[in-house]
Amino acid sequence: MSQSTSFSNDIRGPAEPFDINVDDESFDKLAVWREEYGDIVALTPAQRKSPAFVLNNPEHVRHVLIGNHRNYSKGVGFERVKMLLGNGIIVSDGDFWRSQRRMIQPAFHRKIIGSLAQMMVKCNERKCADWQLKAENSQAINLTEEMSELALEVVLRALFSDDLDALIESTGSNPFAMLVEDVTRDLKLAMRFRALTRHVADIMAKRRAESRIELDFLSLLMETKDKETHEPMSDKALIDEVMTIIVAGHETTAGTLNWAWYLLSQHEDIETALHAEVDALEAAPQFGEIPQLRYTKQLIDETLRLYPPVWLFSRKAIDHDELKQGDGVVKIPAGADIFLCPYLLHRDPRYWDNPDQCLPERFSDEQIKERNKDVYYPFSLGSRRCIGEFFSLVDMQLHLGLLARHFSLRHVPGEPVDIEPHINLRSRHSIFMMPEVRNA
Ligand code: HEM
Repeated sequence: MSQSTSFSNDIRGPAEPFDINVDDESFDKLAVWREEYGDIVALTPAQRKSPAFVLNNPEHVRHVLIGNHRNYSKGVGFERVKMLLGNGIIVSDGDFWRSQRRMIQPAFHRKIIGSLAQMMVKCNERKCADWQLKAENSQAINLTEEMSELALEVVLRALFSDDLDALIESTGSNPFAMLVEDVTRDLKLAMRFRALTRHVADIMAKRRAESRIELDFLSLLMETKDKETHEPMSDKALIDEVMTIIVAGHETTAGTLNWAWYLLSQHEDIETALHAEVDALEAAPQFGEIPQLRYTKQLIDETLRLYPPVWLFSRKAIDHDELKQGDGVVKIPAGADIFLCPYLLHRDPRYWDNPDQCLPERFSDEQIKERNKDVYYPFSLGSRRCIGEFFSLVDMQLHLGLLARHFSLRHVPGEPVDIEPHINLRSRHSIFMMPEVRNA
């Protein structure tokens, strides 16, 4: 056991100063420290100025994200994201965030997602035809890359409708594809990505010149007005939100589908259960069939438990705060950095039996009822909960529902299948699969 430092209220942590980041070292250390120090791990900063606390207990997670959420702003982890997204809704705080969230929320209403579902089905039908050809030619697919391309296409079409095709035609290729091709999220990428804002501005200008309103996220954001001020978003804010939806909306969904197909390829019993559900449908699922895809949803939930794309996120305490611990309280000083790690709580043996095993039935109604709800938070909790949750669930259910009716994916052994804990929890190497046709 390493030497430990006692903090006030008997909170302990490692002696050596350390700044948590989204990288392998932090990922490994967080698990070791939870074993060693328990629910609250206190850290002395190395380069940063403030002390940090890692919270591994669902009551504390609830306190920070719901109970006293107004005392917490977005934390250090979002500095890098800001380079990509400007002051978009995922990084902004306070009154500006509240106003933006109020204006954006209606675009994610169930009715709108229902109308976008037809577009999702079409994207998946094209993917189906593509895999059919590959299966006939015994050609393996790069699943990781293909899920990334597909999730990006869905989110771009949800934003720009057919203006995406016009953009691709005028520029010769999809300029946003750089997000799939270059998975680093460094300054160079950020600058290249920010340069794409001019395409968004061009599409907006064209729609305004033609007085054209589409039923997509872009038009909904262009038309929305703040309920209190009756003002629309500024163009700068609007473009930041579009860039935010592109980044927040594609990597997360892509990563989840990548892992879901991998889990299916490793568990014959789960694949059989999924096939029974999708084969029972009369035709390829549309939005109306979503309630019938219950096991598919359980598989997605279980994938998000084992591989939460947002595996670590951070907050900053605005004022000092207190967390209940046993019969006492733990004092959190103003300015402290707070880290929440869904990955660890999702696999904590105190709350989950056989936590590393893939068991979709954990998400049956009965089992959900028996569990503390806060031990599972892949989409976060409270007022800053993911705005795209329903969109992504519909997208993923339709994808698996449609493609699993036609194909089994068989893992092609190659590089080891390993987690890469960066901004998102990705697979370190691309996962390759051989598509096998089921029902021709
Ligand atoms: C599997 C899919 C997804 C997962 C696991 C996921 C997870 C999350 C998490 C954990 C947060 C909260 C981060 C924090 O508060 O620090 C978040 C926020 C957000 N997500 Fe998602 N997300 C997913 C899909 C999407 C999609 C498809 C979209 C858009 C189309 C989207 C847009 C956003 C936005 C705009 C926010 C910021 C909300 C706010 O701060 O008010 N997400 N997401």
